[in-house]
Amino acid sequence: MSRSNVIVLDNGTGYTKAGWAGNSEPSFVFPTAIATRSTAAGSGPSAATRTTGASKGAGTTGSNLASKRGIEDLDFFIGDEAVANSKTYQLEQPIKHGLVENWDLMERFWEQCFFKYLRAEPEDHYCMLTEPPLNPPENREATAEIMFESFNVKGLYIAVQAVLALAASWSSNKVTDRTLTGTVIDSGDGVTHVIPVAEGYVIGSAIKHIPIAGRDITYFVQQLLRERGEAANIPPEDSRRVAEKIKEDYSYVCQDIVREFRRYDEDPLKYFERFEGEHAVTGRKYGVDVGYERFLAPEIFFNPEIASSDFLTPLPEVVDSVIQQSPIDVRRGLYKNIVLSGGSTMFAHFGQRLKKDLRTIVDGRLAASELASGSHMRSSGMEVNVISHKMQRYAVWYGGSLLGSLPDFQSACFSKQDYEEYGPSIVRRFSTFGTNS
Ligand SMILES: Nc1ncnc2c1ncn2[C@@H]1O[C@H](COP(=O)(O)OP(=O)(O)OP(=O)(O)O)[C@@H](O)[C@H]1O
Ligand SMILES: [Mg+2]
Repeated sequence: MSRSNVIVLDNGTGYTKAGWAGNSEPSFVFPTAIATRSTAAGSGPSAATRTTGASKGAGTTGSNLASKRGIEDLDFFIGDEAVANSKTYQLEQPIKHGLVENWDLMERFWEQCFFKYLRAEPEDHYCMLTEPPLNPPENREATAEIMFESFNVKGLYIAVQAVLALAASWSSNKVTDRTLTGTVIDSGDGVTHVIPVAEGYVIGSAIKHIPIAGRDITYFVQQLLRERGEAANIPPEDSRRVAEKIKEDYSYVCQDIVREFRRYDEDPLKYFERFEGEHAVTGRKYGVDVGYERFLAPEIFFNPEIASSDFLTPLPEVVDSVIQQSPIDVRRGLYKNIVLSGGSTMFAHFGQRLKKDLRTIVDGRLAASELASGSHMRSSGMEVNVISHKMQRYAVWYGGSLLGSLPDFQSACFSKQDYEEYGPSIVRRFSTFGTNS
């Protein structure tokens, strides 16, 4: 893993991916969690107060970090260490549903990302950060304020996660031209977004969110294990971890749920798996039979009613309606390049099923419109492609790594000098670069 002069930081709701541009994987992946001594930190400045400061212009707020760097301020943990110390410290997650909620905690979190994990002086590096779609511009400014005033980064670029995920798909051999047009399905721990992008710009009005992501699938596996009586074999404090492991290591997307149930019932020995665990503290061994959860876990994307009654639209229908709500001249490009990104798209055969279900919806509509026109107008058809690729797990980070190592990256960044000259609002607009279209 080599160190370049560009740091790539993708702070997700669940996990932070940190590393150096030019590499194929982040150097560090750890929970976006922070454990502090004082409860006061939890009530630090909200985005609103913080951004009031930012909008006053550069130089008016001073360095937040410098003003409070006391000894007690160093007494905090981030990542796995934060989780490990959650009994004696207060554990918090500064990012909720993809958005930074507590800037004070976020600043301290970044501090350790730079100094403890990457072991880098931010002054010597350009920094590529990521943001969710529809991130309020005030949040961008607040980020820039911290990056320039507290950390003095050499240059800053904030990219929309979906655009980076599109760039990451260039690594697939199915992708022949480096386009930034496509539909991104980014499913992480906290939320699933379906985002149409045309030539590097997000079509904000058509984006949709689905309240089903990794965390919900883990809960669902826990629930299924309880219903089958298997949960009784698992120590309660391991329940979540075991469910997550089963989800990540044993689950897959089936192509037909009725047929899959039948297969399991006809030949359980073939399809049931045994999960062996060990209690972290006592060392006691235990075992769980893993059955239907193997295919039911990710099925909630395709048949959400099996887990909840709140959200009932299957993912393929959401994808279709996002594209239908986008301008007509880009729809073809959006169906043709549907790109997967994030941990919760990692289930085997996920792309295949999505493509099949989408195909059915699109063909149904084409047939209906042919019928309505009295079969006079034959449609030329619609190409539907779902791109899975090797870099999908950390697609957003990898896209950042790819773009961050292009020759025109540094000139697309803003420098501290730009920031001081024009004020924080310059970060409202970054130029796109790197495509061959
Ligand atoms: N092989 C796998 N199969 C299924 N799920 C997985 C797999 N690997 C990781 N996950 C799940 O992916 C989730 C983490 O994904 P990711 O790192 O993309 O999220 P994030 O960026 O932190 O969150 P968000 O994008 O919602 O802000 C976790 O719920 C994890 O259990
Ligand atoms: Mg993410």
